Amino acid sequence: MRELLKTLLRRPYRLLFRVPAQHAIQRMVADGLPAELMPAFRYLAQPSVPASDKRILAPIKGFRAALRHRTDPPPGAFTSPPPQPSDTPHTDPPPPGLLRPFSWELIANKTCVSHYWGVFLFLCAKRKPVQTILELGSGVGMSACYLTAGNPGAQLITVEGSPQRAAMAEANLSAINPRARVVNAMFDNALDEWLPKLSGTLDIVHIDGQHERISTLHYFERIKPHLRPSALVIFDDIHWSDDMHRAWEELARSRDVSFAINTGRYGICLCQPGASRPRVHDFSRYTTDWRKEKRPRNEFW
Ligand SMILES: C[S@@+](CC[C@H](N)C(=O)[O-])C[C@H]1O[C@@H](n2cnc3c(N)ncnc32)[C@H](O)[C@@H]1O
Repeated sequence: MRELLKTLLRRPYRLLFRVPAQHAIQRMVADGLPAELMPAFRYLAQPSVPASDKRILAPIKGFRAALRHRTDPPPGAFTSPPPQPSDTPHTDPPPPGLLRPFSWELIANKTCVSHYWGVFLFLCAKRKPVQTILELGSGVGMSACYLTAGNPGAQLITVEGSPQRAAMAEANLSAINPRARVVNAMFDNALDEWLPKLSGTLDIVHIDGQHERISTLHYFERIKPHLRPSALVIFDDIHWSDDMHRAWEELARSRDVSFAINTGRYGICLCQPGASRPRVHDFSRYTTDWRKEKRPRNEFW
């Protein structure tokens, strides 16, 4: 019922906010948002893509549809651990959540990025000059498919702890871009191995796993020295819990972030080492995901 109501409300809502959203994008650009990212934000407010992009994105829609029809045992995933005490140092590798089973339904509809947000990732990768994309949390590879479809010439590396999910991600990704690479490892182990090889080349990082404040800050600290100036770091699920929202508030104050945008689902940071203080924008009212409501603290999947 709630979902149906949201679907019915989306179109009039977008119409109502069409002009204010355009003004908000212009304000962001005037404040320093690179103009190449405008189409991604325009899409969030008015989601339509040209036929040429629709053709590129069609196979990814097909992967999601296929998930819903599977009847074999679904692969488990590492859940997000409950919040750690706020004074826990984020220099130590944080313990991951438990490996738990998920239904295909949940994988297709909840844990994978939706098409709407997937297209946003696609447009970010498409417009930004990009050499390397790193993702923490492949799942079955949907978000990585959108990212690599946006910029097939860029190197994409995505990390997944669950061996079954990593295998599915590999199968899906190889159909979109055979050069994309899935690393089956826990995040910290993968970063130990890959960051020295990728140093200074990271243009886009998507962090979508272990949604917990200390972990989020820890992974940001780890990748920070390896980012190219003006790299885009996309934090998923900043409204997952109060704890994740606190992480976002800290990130949006970081001295290494020059621009921070709350989109309602993603926290978007443009990173510049030694930036004095980020310019912070809230674009969440123009996206129609309405995810600002915080989840109960005991729901950490
Ligand atoms: C929300 S899902 C990713 C969904 C994917 N980005 C998408 O949108 O299609 C998060 C994934 O991160 C993995 N994960 C969580 N914590 C991890 C860790 N510490 N190391 C490796 N993988 C982890 C989980 O197994 C899960 O598959």
